[in-house]
Amino acid sequence: SGGQACDLVIFGAMGDLALKKLFPALYQLHRADLLSGDSRILALARRDYGPDEARRHIRESLAGQLHESSLEPELLDGFLARVSYLKLDFTDAPGYPVLGDWHRQGPGTNTLVFYYATPPGLYGRITANLCSAGICDDHTRVVVEKPIGHDLASSRELNDQLARVFLEENIFRIDHYLGKETVQNLIALRFANNLFASQWDQNHISHVEITVAESVGVEGRWSYFNSAGQLRDMVQSHLLQLLCLLAMDPPSDLSPDSIRDEKVKVLKALSPLTPERISSHLVRGQYTAGTAEGIPVPGYLEEEDAEGPSHTETFIALKVEIENWRWAGVPFYIRTGKRLPEKRSEVIVHFKPAPHYIFDPDQKHLANNKLIIRLQPDEGMALQILTKDQGLSRGMRLRQGPLELTFAEAFETDRIPDAYERLLLEVMKGNQYLFVRRDEVEFAWRWVDQLLANCEECGAHPKRYAAGTWGPVASIAMITRDNRSWYEDA
Ligand code: BG6
Repeated sequence: SGGQACDLVIFGAMGDLALKKLFPALYQLHRADLLSGDSRILALARRDYGPDEARRHIRESLAGQLHESSLEPELLDGFLARVSYLKLDFTDAPGYPVLGDWHRQGPGTNTLVFYYATPPGLYGRITANLCSAGICDDHTRVVVEKPIGHDLASSRELNDQLARVFLEENIFRIDHYLGKETVQNLIALRFANNLFASQWDQNHISHVEITVAESVGVEGRWSYFNSAGQLRDMVQSHLLQLLCLLAMDPPSDLSPDSIRDEKVKVLKALSPLTPERISSHLVRGQYTAGTAEGIPVPGYLEEEDAEGPSHTETFIALKVEIENWRWAGVPFYIRTGKRLPEKRSEVIVHFKPAPHYIFDPDQKHLANNKLIIRLQPDEGMALQILTKDQGLSRGMRLRQGPLELTFAEAFETDRIPDAYERLLLEVMKGNQYLFVRRDEVEFAWRWVDQLLANCEECGAHPKRYAAGTWGPVASIAMITRDNRSWYEDA
């Protein structure tokens, strides 16, 4: 049963990513009969576990992560029977040949897949050690997590290291936003509906908003986060990927390279934020003490392992312009931050008003359609349209209301699959369309690098905002200057 048989080797199998995301996703695939019967998993970590102990640990962690209704003991046993554990110091080259032995002991036809669920600082060493152990061939796949580097130079170095051992067609760079059901839906929405496809440009759209708000803070990752910041951690990857899917030209088919070629064109056309434009196009923020969903929380500089002072941003708002025929004059306002009032990711496409307006002058501000795409939570979409308000006494009053589609209701699903389920499945199938190609990563870094350098030059330090608010007031001023407002304030 299931897809292509794989031998999946997870580096960092007792870490957060593996326990919170990878094992639950693999279990769900097993449960849905999407893992081939022959597929096996080798969990690698530094801890001194016996095989049963490691399995017990994974079982407990699954029990903590998954809904009770999906935890069927027999299925769990079946899943854990696929898992072996090996203690390995990832920096120790002589330990690696064992991985080859494990693979050879398997069915012989399984595709070998390495998953680096480790801090990115180890990617180079692991790759070099795999190389010298001679375990990889032209079919061996590797999965790496963001961040791919810290800037253009370091991402090139990392990509070069990977390229010495793996073919580009076997390198799966994860941006987990691409695995989210609603993010993929952007492709269906745009290219399966001529209603939208034909309206998707500067003739019909006035501007686009992308908000990726989180209520969490830095979650015990202060030192990593402090060296990255929200621009590198979220914009370079997730938000630029969303922007590309929203803005790209129609690909001629769904093949991985057709889609990625179009995304790269968008990245190349991003207008650089020169020092003159920084003050009107960018706002950075850093949270101070406040609340998170009603509970008092410390500021960024008072977090547990904080070593202040710091100019790292935990919030960023940007006005991004794309210099091409489709999007000339259509700003994309994007914002993302930690410790905002709620976890909410959404895209709002604002259509231009009708060319001639004949209704009540006080209602003129209502007269533009908006398409709201809710990425999470409450996955779905709504098209705001204008109708006549009901009733005899209302005359020809307009009313704005949604044509609404909530996926959970529409498809009667109780569960929308986690991004990692889809991504791991595609890795096993060898389909790269949801993974980031080398040139995408590099063009994204090029834009981010110049932006950071120009911020530095202008001394544009983050402004303070209280935890539990929508970022510095300057981010509201940024959009108000264009006579617009962020959607929830509307
Ligand atoms: C990660 C970032 O890539 O995405 C985190 O490193 C962030 O800082 C997370 O919290 C958000 O992902 P999601 O799926 O919860 O929106």
